[in-house]
Amino acid sequence: MCGIIGYAGEKNAVEIVYRGLINLEYRGYDSAGAAFGINGRTVVFKRQGRVEKLKPLLEGLASGIGIGHTRWATHGSPSDINAHPHTSGKITLVHNGIIENYSELKAELEKGGAVFKSQTDSEVIAALMSVYYCGDILGALYKTVKRLKGSYAIMAVAEGENVIAAARHKSPVVIGYGNGGYYCASDEPVLSGECGEVSFLKDGDFALIKPDGVRIFDGELRETERKKQKNLAQAGSLELGGFAHYMLKELRQSPAAVKNTVTAFAEAEDKIRGALSGVNRIIFIGCGTAYHAGLIGKIYVEDIARMPAEAETAGEFRYKNPIVNKNTAVVAVSQSGETADTLEGARLAKSLGARVIAVTNAPYSQLTRIADTVVPVCAGAEICVAATKSYTGQIAALYMLALLLAGKNAEGGGLSGLPEICKNVADGADVYALSRLCAFSKGVYFLGRGLDYAVALEASLKLKEVSYIPSEGYPAGELKHGTLALIDNATVSVFIATDKSLTDKYKNSVEQVISRGGIAAIITDIDELETAFKGRAHIIKLPCCRGHLSPLVTATAVQLLAYETAVSLGLNPDKPRNLAKSVTVE
Ligand code: G6P
Repeated sequence: MCGIIGYAGEKNAVEIVYRGLINLEYRGYDSAGAAFGINGRTVVFKRQGRVEKLKPLLEGLASGIGIGHTRWATHGSPSDINAHPHTSGKITLVHNGIIENYSELKAELEKGGAVFKSQTDSEVIAALMSVYYCGDILGALYKTVKRLKGSYAIMAVAEGENVIAAARHKSPVVIGYGNGGYYCASDEPVLSGECGEVSFLKDGDFALIKPDGVRIFDGELRETERKKQKNLAQAGSLELGGFAHYMLKELRQSPAAVKNTVTAFAEAEDKIRGALSGVNRIIFIGCGTAYHAGLIGKIYVEDIARMPAEAETAGEFRYKNPIVNKNTAVVAVSQSGETADTLEGARLAKSLGARVIAVTNAPYSQLTRIADTVVPVCAGAEICVAATKSYTGQIAALYMLALLLAGKNAEGGGLSGLPEICKNVADGADVYALSRLCAFSKGVYFLGRGLDYAVALEASLKLKEVSYIPSEGYPAGELKHGTLALIDNATVSVFIATDKSLTDKYKNSVEQVISRGGIAAIITDIDELETAFKGRAHIIKLPCCRGHLSPLVTATAVQLLAYETAVSLGLNPDKPRNLAKSVTVE
């Protein structure tokens, strides 16, 4: 949800900011813009659309200081005018977040004579800062943020001052220490290859980024330090590496995500065991794909550890009055560790006395700072907006967690050899013909039971995110209670079927679809289903899925199906319309 970056130093800020915006684009791609200090003036460039539209504008420019922004529109439609940076008087700034009291502030500023060009909440910050500015950018930013309600990561420059002032509240800002210059950015992967060390601003902090150093201040402008840490994001992780799209590259990295997550779990096991001692109930929270992983976690905990478990979207959990106590563990699942609803859900759980466990791919994220303990997901940087390898990594982590709760040997847990199976599915599952059927259908229904139902929900989310085809995930047993009314020869029903004990039930459901003239497909490792429906349903045959571990295999197949469907429609699966990878606002 908007990516921001700033640089001050000896190198050319124009190249650094542009490259940074390209790498931050997964956070939003409605518009892009940048501002640079050139001969004592602040020069602004901005365009609606993708970052590459800035390229011809920046050709041949050089500067030692700059800020940039890539936008996921919230207030004001995508347009050149609404693109950041926003300027008022001597102040120019970029903003990630939402200012909830912007209309009141805007009205107040308009009374004082301010004229606004855009419909954004962010321009109000620039106007307010310009009112407070009298030669001291940090002082002006401090007075400004005291008036703001909502969330913000702000990077501001003032004409004639060779410094970037930054502030944050609920939206992330990372400081980067590079060779010959200093950086600020929305996340650390964008600084991989540029900065070996990073530090993270806390909520309420301010920073001054200058060509010769960085100064950090707390909420009362007292100079402070924030621990420098190794930048764990690996250089090169932001490159396509010969793949046509990040989605394909990343879903093929699932085997490594599973393997590395299992290894990291073993290392963190004692801490996790300690955090879970005395727990007798688990609630999983998360959004989107992470919520779907939580649904799988719930089944694991109930089945393997025989402990009561629930799963809820973080957006619902945070607005209710949840029943939790010190024996409840709220497991917050989030790839980014920055999703606003998930963070608020975790904070609420903590305030009510529950233990909070973070399952995240982002070791330095806000979620890890709220949580009592962290279950690491080691999927590496995920750039495609649609989550793939982080989902399989989360599933592996939740499986290990359930084994630990059950007092079973978490080391390995039957997972050995599984990465190889996922790899074979990613390399070899022939989903092309089915993807063509989906691409030209008027709706795709994914059906399953138990773990297969949880994966059906994710399959449906993945397909609609990247192909825009209407889709629903449904419990197979519910087919006859509603969805059957939608079945005709232009709809595809995809059954995910890996529970051998339910083979007869699956047969019934598939027959029901076929008898209503619908197109049926089955993703399965069950030979009997393949034999029963050969020639009558489209079959994607999987290698043996191994009970509880089946989601790791079926997920790879449905991710591949969504990918192929998007590509066959000529769509870019990495940047679906209207979406952003990390939703840091409500
Ligand atoms: C957005 C993304 C989804 C993601 C969800 C949760 O909606 O588009 O792909 O699953 O956020 O993100 P998180 O980082 O918390 O896992």
